[in-house]
Amino acid sequence: MTVMEKKQLLGFLEQKPQKAWLEALGAIREDTHSVDREATRIWFSFWPLELSEALRAPEGALEMARSMDLEGEWKLEKQMDASVAFLYGARHWVAVKNAILTQSDSDTLATTIRGVALRVSETDKVAVSLVLGISAVGLMVFRQVGQEVFEKMADSPAEGELLPKNPDRVVTKRKRKSRDGVLTFLKGVNRKFDVRWNERTRNGSFRAINGQDIAMAGARAEGDYRTLDYRRIDGPVPVECRVGSCGYCWVGVLEGHGNLSAISDFERERLRYFGYDTTNDPDDEQPRIRLACQAQCHGDVSLAIAPWNGELKRRHHQGRKKLGTA
Ligand code: FES
Repeated sequence: MTVMEKKQLLGFLEQKPQKAWLEALGAIREDTHSVDREATRIWFSFWPLELSEALRAPEGALEMARSMDLEGEWKLEKQMDASVAFLYGARHWVAVKNAILTQSDSDTLATTIRGVALRVSETDKVAVSLVLGISAVGLMVFRQVGQEVFEKMADSPAEGELLPKNPDRVVTKRKRKSRDGVLTFLKGVNRKFDVRWNERTRNGSFRAINGQDIAMAGARAEGDYRTLDYRRIDGPVPVECRVGSCGYCWVGVLEGHGNLSAISDFERERLRYFGYDTTNDPDDEQPRIRLACQAQCHGDVSLAIAPWNGELKRRHHQGRKKLGTA
Protein backbone atom coordinates (compact mmCIF):
# COMPACT_ATOMS: atom_id res chain seq x y z
CA MET A 1 0.00 0.00 0.00
CA THR A 2 1.31 3.45 -0.86
CA VAL A 3 1.91 6.21 1.69
CA MET A 4 -0.93 8.15 0.05
CA GLU A 5 -3.40 5.29 0.58
CA LYS A 6 -2.36 4.96 4.22
CA LYS A 7 -2.89 8.68 4.66
CA GLN A 8 -6.30 8.33 3.07
CA LEU A 9 -7.35 5.80 5.73
CA LEU A 10 -6.10 8.01 8.55
CA GLY A 11 -7.77 11.06 6.98
CA PHE A 12 -11.02 9.10 6.67
CA LEU A 13 -10.83 8.09 10.34
CA GLU A 14 -9.97 11.61 11.42
CA GLN A 15 -13.19 12.92 9.92
CA LYS A 16 -15.27 10.70 12.19
CA PRO A 17 -16.46 12.17 15.49
CA GLN A 18 -16.91 10.06 18.62
CA LYS A 19 -20.62 9.71 17.82
CA ALA A 20 -19.82 8.03 14.49
CA TRP A 21 -17.47 5.58 16.21
CA LEU A 22 -20.15 4.66 18.73
CA GLU A 23 -22.65 4.17 15.89
CA ALA A 24 -20.15 1.88 14.16
CA LEU A 25 -19.79 -0.11 17.38
CA GLY A 26 -23.58 -0.42 17.42
CA ALA A 27 -23.55 -1.65 13.80
CA ILE A 28 -21.05 -4.46 14.52
CA ARG A 29 -22.37 -5.32 17.97
CA GLU A 30 -24.57 -8.27 17.07
CA ASP A 31 -21.85 -9.84 14.92
CA THR A 32 -19.22 -9.48 17.67
CA HIS A 33 -18.64 -12.56 19.82
CA SER A 34 -20.05 -12.04 23.32
CA VAL A 35 -16.57 -12.46 24.81
CA ASP A 36 -15.65 -8.99 23.49
CA ARG A 37 -19.02 -7.30 23.00
CA GLU A 38 -18.91 -5.27 26.22
CA ALA A 39 -15.11 -5.22 26.47
CA THR A 40 -14.98 -3.30 23.17
CA ARG A 41 -17.36 -0.62 24.41
CA ILE A 42 -15.50 -0.41 27.70
CA TRP A 43 -12.20 0.13 25.83
CA PHE A 44 -13.87 3.00 23.92
CA SER A 45 -14.98 4.49 27.26
CA PHE A 46 -11.49 4.26 28.67
CA TRP A 47 -10.00 5.93 25.57
CA PRO A 48 -12.49 8.53 24.32
CA LEU A 49 -11.60 10.63 21.33
CA GLU A 50 -12.17 13.70 23.46
CA LEU A 51 -9.19 12.78 25.66
CA SER A 52 -6.76 12.50 22.77
CA GLU A 53 -8.10 15.69 21.20
CA ALA A 54 -7.78 17.59 24.48
CA LEU A 55 -4.18 16.42 24.82
CA ARG A 56 -3.40 17.82 21.37
CA ALA A 57 -4.44 21.35 22.37
CA PRO A 58 -1.90 24.07 21.56
CA GLU A 59 -0.87 24.34 25.24
CA GLY A 60 0.69 20.88 24.98
CA ALA A 61 -0.25 17.52 26.48
CA LEU A 62 1.40 18.07 29.86
CA GLU A 63 -0.28 21.41 30.44
CA MET A 64 -3.66 19.98 29.42
CA ALA A 65 -3.11 16.94 31.65
CA ARG A 66 -2.44 19.28 34.54
CA SER A 67 -5.54 21.33 33.83
CA MET A 68 -7.66 18.17 33.70
CA ASP A 69 -6.02 16.73 36.85
CA LEU A 70 -5.14 13.57 34.95
CA GLU A 71 -3.62 10.78 37.02
CA GLY A 72 -2.43 7.30 36.05
CA GLU A 73 -1.48 6.25 32.53
CA TRP A 74 -3.30 8.70 30.30
CA LYS A 75 -1.04 8.56 27.21
CA LEU A 76 -2.38 5.96 24.80
CA GLU A 77 0.76 5.95 22.68
CA LYS A 78 2.75 4.77 25.71
CA GLN A 79 0.51 1.84 26.38
CA MET A 80 -1.32 0.98 23.20
CA ASP A 81 -0.25 -2.67 23.50
CA ALA A 82 -1.20 -2.87 27.19
CA SER A 83 -4.56 -1.12 26.79
CA VAL A 84 -6.02 -3.97 24.73
CA ALA A 85 -5.00 -6.84 27.00
CA PHE A 86 -8.43 -7.26 28.62
CA LEU A 87 -10.03 -8.01 25.25
CA TYR A 88 -10.07 -11.59 24.01
CA GLY A 89 -9.04 -10.33 20.57
CA ALA A 90 -5.73 -9.11 22.03
CA ARG A 91 -4.21 -12.44 20.97
CA HIS A 92 -4.62 -11.25 17.37
CA TRP A 93 -3.26 -7.76 18.00
CA VAL A 94 -0.24 -7.99 15.68
CA ALA A 95 -2.43 -9.22 12.81
CA VAL A 96 -4.90 -6.38 13.49
CA LYS A 97 -2.19 -3.72 13.35
CA ASN A 98 -0.74 -5.13 10.15
CA ALA A 99 -4.18 -5.41 8.56
CA ILE A 100 -4.84 -1.75 9.37
CA LEU A 101 -1.57 -0.70 7.80
CA THR A 102 -2.60 -2.35 4.56
CA GLN A 103 -6.27 -1.37 4.67
CA SER A 104 -7.75 1.41 2.56
CA ASP A 105 -10.83 3.37 3.62
CA SER A 106 -14.30 2.24 2.60
CA ASP A 107 -17.83 3.61 2.58
CA THR A 108 -18.41 3.66 6.31
CA LEU A 109 -16.57 3.15 9.55
CA ALA A 110 -18.44 -0.11 10.16
CA THR A 111 -17.43 -1.54 6.77
CA THR A 112 -13.83 -0.49 7.38
CA ILE A 113 -13.88 -2.35 10.72
CA ARG A 114 -15.37 -5.39 9.00
CA GLY A 115 -12.69 -5.18 6.28
CA VAL A 116 -9.89 -5.26 8.86
CA ALA A 117 -11.54 -8.11 10.77
CA LEU A 118 -11.91 -10.15 7.58
CA ARG A 119 -8.21 -9.83 6.80
CA VAL A 120 -7.27 -10.82 10.35
CA SER A 121 -9.59 -13.82 10.17
CA GLU A 122 -7.77 -14.93 7.02
CA THR A 123 -4.22 -14.43 8.30
CA ASP A 124 -4.82 -15.85 11.80
CA LYS A 125 -7.47 -18.41 10.78
CA VAL A 126 -9.96 -17.18 13.34
CA ALA A 127 -13.70 -16.44 13.21
CA VAL A 128 -14.51 -12.87 12.17
CA SER A 129 -16.79 -12.49 15.21
CA LEU A 130 -13.76 -12.92 17.49
CA VAL A 131 -11.78 -10.10 15.91
CA LEU A 132 -14.43 -7.50 15.09
CA GLY A 133 -14.09 -5.78 18.48
CA ILE A 134 -10.29 -5.68 18.45
CA SER A 135 -10.37 -4.41 14.85
CA ALA A 136 -12.54 -1.47 15.92
CA VAL A 137 -10.16 -0.81 18.80
CA GLY A 138 -7.16 -1.04 16.48
CA LEU A 139 -8.61 1.55 14.11
CA MET A 140 -9.30 3.91 17.01
CA VAL A 141 -5.76 3.42 18.31
CA PHE A 142 -4.47 4.24 14.80
CA ARG A 143 -6.71 7.32 14.73
CA GLN A 144 -5.43 8.53 18.11
CA VAL A 145 -1.70 7.76 18.02
CA GLY A 146 -1.14 8.50 14.34
CA GLN A 147 0.67 6.64 11.63
CA GLU A 148 4.27 7.01 12.78
CA VAL A 149 3.78 5.61 16.28
CA PHE A 150 1.42 2.92 15.01
CA GLU A 151 3.87 1.75 12.36
CA LYS A 152 6.72 1.61 14.88
CA MET A 153 4.67 -0.69 17.10
CA ALA A 154 3.19 -2.77 14.30
CA ASP A 155 4.90 -6.02 15.27
CA SER A 156 4.69 -5.81 19.05
CA PRO A 157 2.09 -8.11 20.64
CA ALA A 158 -0.41 -7.16 23.32
CA GLU A 159 1.32 -6.61 26.65
CA GLY A 160 0.52 -8.70 29.69
CA GLU A 161 -1.42 -11.90 30.27
CA LEU A 162 -4.06 -12.84 27.71
CA LEU A 163 -7.46 -14.41 28.26
CA PRO A 164 -7.61 -18.22 27.79
CA LYS A 165 -7.71 -19.47 24.23
CA ASN A 166 -11.26 -20.83 24.32
CA PRO A 167 -13.62 -17.80 24.15
CA ASP A 168 -16.72 -19.79 25.10
CA ARG A 169 -15.06 -20.93 28.30
CA VAL A 170 -14.22 -17.31 29.15
CA VAL A 171 -17.89 -16.37 28.71
CA THR A 172 -19.06 -19.37 30.76
CA LYS A 173 -16.60 -18.59 33.54
CA ARG A 174 -17.77 -14.99 33.69
CA LYS A 175 -21.35 -16.13 34.14
CA ARG A 176 -20.58 -18.92 36.61
CA LYS A 177 -21.78 -18.06 40.10
CA SER A 178 -19.46 -18.30 43.09
CA ARG A 179 -20.61 -20.51 46.00
CA ASP A 180 -22.59 -17.76 47.76
CA GLY A 181 -23.92 -16.58 44.45
CA VAL A 182 -25.57 -20.00 44.14
CA LEU A 183 -26.75 -20.15 47.79
CA THR A 184 -28.37 -16.71 47.66
CA PHE A 185 -31.55 -17.63 49.52
CA LEU A 186 -29.90 -19.82 52.18
CA LYS A 187 -27.21 -17.38 53.19
CA GLY A 188 -29.31 -14.24 53.43
CA VAL A 189 -27.43 -11.08 54.31
CA ASN A 190 -24.17 -12.94 55.03
CA ARG A 191 -23.49 -13.70 51.39
CA LYS A 192 -20.13 -12.95 49.85
CA PHE A 193 -19.43 -12.60 46.17
CA ASP A 194 -16.47 -12.68 43.81
CA VAL A 195 -15.25 -9.46 42.27
CA ARG A 196 -12.89 -10.38 39.43
CA TRP A 197 -10.78 -7.30 38.78
CA ASN A 198 -8.41 -9.15 36.41
CA GLU A 199 -9.81 -12.19 34.64
CA ARG A 200 -6.41 -13.07 33.22
CA THR A 201 -4.58 -13.96 36.43
CA ARG A 202 -5.16 -16.61 39.06
CA ASN A 203 -5.16 -14.05 41.90
CA GLY A 204 -7.24 -11.46 40.11
CA SER A 205 -10.29 -11.45 42.41
CA PHE A 206 -11.42 -10.44 45.87
CA ARG A 207 -14.53 -11.07 47.94
CA ALA A 208 -17.31 -8.57 48.64
CA ILE A 209 -19.92 -8.81 51.39
CA ASN A 210 -23.49 -8.45 50.18
CA GLY A 211 -24.24 -4.73 49.88
CA GLN A 212 -20.59 -3.62 50.16
CA ASP A 213 -19.29 -1.22 47.53
CA ILE A 214 -16.57 -2.50 45.20
CA ALA A 215 -13.91 -0.06 46.42
CA MET A 216 -14.45 -0.90 50.09
CA ALA A 217 -14.40 -4.63 49.37
CA GLY A 218 -11.18 -4.25 47.36
CA ALA A 219 -9.42 -2.61 50.31
CA ARG A 220 -9.41 -6.01 52.05
CA ALA A 221 -7.59 -7.70 49.16
CA GLU A 222 -4.05 -8.60 50.15
CA GLY A 223 -1.18 -7.80 47.82
CA ASP A 224 1.06 -5.05 46.54
CA TYR A 225 -0.97 -3.31 43.87
CA ARG A 226 1.05 -0.08 43.81
CA THR A 227 3.65 -1.74 41.64
CA LEU A 228 0.93 -2.18 39.01
CA ASP A 229 -0.35 1.38 39.30
CA TYR A 230 0.70 4.04 41.84
CA ARG A 231 -2.96 4.97 42.34
CA ARG A 232 -3.75 1.54 43.79
CA ILE A 233 -2.92 2.47 47.36
CA ASP A 234 -5.65 0.41 48.97
CA GLY A 235 -6.33 -2.71 46.95
CA PRO A 236 -6.54 -3.38 43.22
CA VAL A 237 -9.04 -0.57 42.50
CA PRO A 238 -7.59 2.97 42.54
CA VAL A 239 -9.31 5.06 45.23
CA GLU A 240 -8.91 8.35 46.99
CA CYS A 241 -12.06 9.97 48.39
CA ARG A 242 -14.48 6.99 48.54
CA VAL A 243 -17.45 9.38 48.27
CA GLY A 244 -17.74 10.00 44.53
CA SER A 245 -15.67 13.19 44.49
CA CYS A 246 -12.27 12.32 43.02
CA GLY A 247 -13.11 10.06 40.06
CA TYR A 248 -10.19 7.68 40.72
CA CYS A 249 -12.29 4.54 40.97
CA TRP A 250 -14.08 4.26 37.63
CA VAL A 251 -14.37 0.75 36.25
CA GLY A 252 -15.95 -1.09 33.33
CA VAL A 253 -18.25 -4.00 34.15
CA LEU A 254 -17.58 -6.88 31.77
CA GLU A 255 -20.15 -9.16 33.41
CA GLY A 256 -22.51 -8.92 36.38
CA HIS A 257 -23.70 -5.34 35.85
CA GLY A 258 -27.14 -6.57 36.93
CA ASN A 259 -25.63 -7.66 40.27
CA LEU A 260 -24.66 -4.11 41.19
CA SER A 261 -26.92 -1.55 42.88
CA ALA A 262 -28.88 0.68 40.52
CA ILE A 263 -26.99 3.83 39.64
CA SER A 264 -28.05 6.86 41.70
CA ASP A 265 -28.63 10.33 40.26
CA PHE A 266 -25.51 11.40 42.13
CA GLU A 267 -23.28 8.71 40.59
CA ARG A 268 -24.69 9.37 37.13
CA GLU A 269 -23.99 13.06 37.53
CA ARG A 270 -20.44 12.40 38.74
CA LEU A 271 -19.72 10.14 35.74
CA ARG A 272 -20.99 12.91 33.48
CA TYR A 273 -18.91 15.51 35.31
CA PHE A 274 -15.70 13.53 34.83
CA GLY A 275 -16.53 12.68 31.22
CA TYR A 276 -16.52 8.91 31.86
CA ASP A 277 -20.05 8.28 30.60
CA THR A 278 -19.39 8.31 26.85
CA THR A 279 -20.74 4.78 26.29
CA ASN A 280 -23.29 4.53 29.10
CA ASP A 281 -26.93 4.47 28.08
CA PRO A 282 -28.52 7.38 30.02
CA ASP A 283 -31.64 5.26 30.65
CA ASP A 284 -29.76 2.20 31.88
CA GLU A 285 -30.14 1.71 35.63
CA GLN A 286 -27.15 -0.64 35.80
CA PRO A 287 -24.75 0.70 33.16
CA ARG A 288 -21.33 -0.74 32.36
CA ILE A 289 -19.24 2.21 33.50
CA ARG A 290 -19.46 2.74 37.26
CA LEU A 291 -17.71 4.38 40.18
CA ALA A 292 -16.47 1.53 42.37
CA CYS A 293 -17.06 3.51 45.56
CA GLN A 294 -20.73 3.97 44.66
CA ALA A 295 -21.64 0.58 43.16
CA GLN A 296 -22.65 -2.02 45.75
CA CYS A 297 -22.33 -5.75 45.13
CA HIS A 298 -25.31 -8.09 45.27
CA GLY A 299 -23.72 -10.82 43.17
CA ASP A 300 -20.52 -11.73 41.31
CA VAL A 301 -18.95 -9.24 38.90
CA SER A 302 -16.06 -9.08 36.43
CA LEU A 303 -14.34 -5.74 35.90
CA ALA A 304 -11.81 -3.91 33.80
CA ILE A 305 -10.06 -1.07 35.64
CA ALA A 306 -9.63 2.29 33.93
CA PRO A 307 -5.93 3.22 33.55
CA TRP A 308 -6.36 6.94 34.19
CA ASN A 309 -8.67 9.38 35.94
CA GLY A 310 -9.34 13.09 35.66
CA GLU A 311 -11.87 15.79 34.95
CA LEU A 312 -12.05 15.47 31.20
CA LYS A 313 -15.20 17.47 30.55
CA ARG A 314 -14.90 20.38 32.93
CA ARG A 315 -11.19 21.06 32.53
CA HIS A 316 -11.23 20.54 28.80
CA HIS A 317 -13.97 23.12 28.43
CA GLN A 318 -12.18 25.50 30.76
CA GLY A 319 -9.00 25.05 28.74
CA ARG A 320 -10.83 25.82 25.52
CA LYS A 321 -12.41 28.90 27.04
CA LYS A 322 -8.98 30.08 28.12
CA LEU A 323 -7.81 29.71 24.56
CA GLY A 324 -10.83 31.65 23.33
CA THR A 325 -12.06 28.73 21.21
CA ALA A 326 -15.28 27.98 23.11
S1 FES B 1 -12.85 6.90 45.30
FE1 FES B 1 -13.21 8.96 44.75
S2 FES B 1 -14.85 8.81 43.32
FE2 FES B 1 -14.62 6.79 44.06
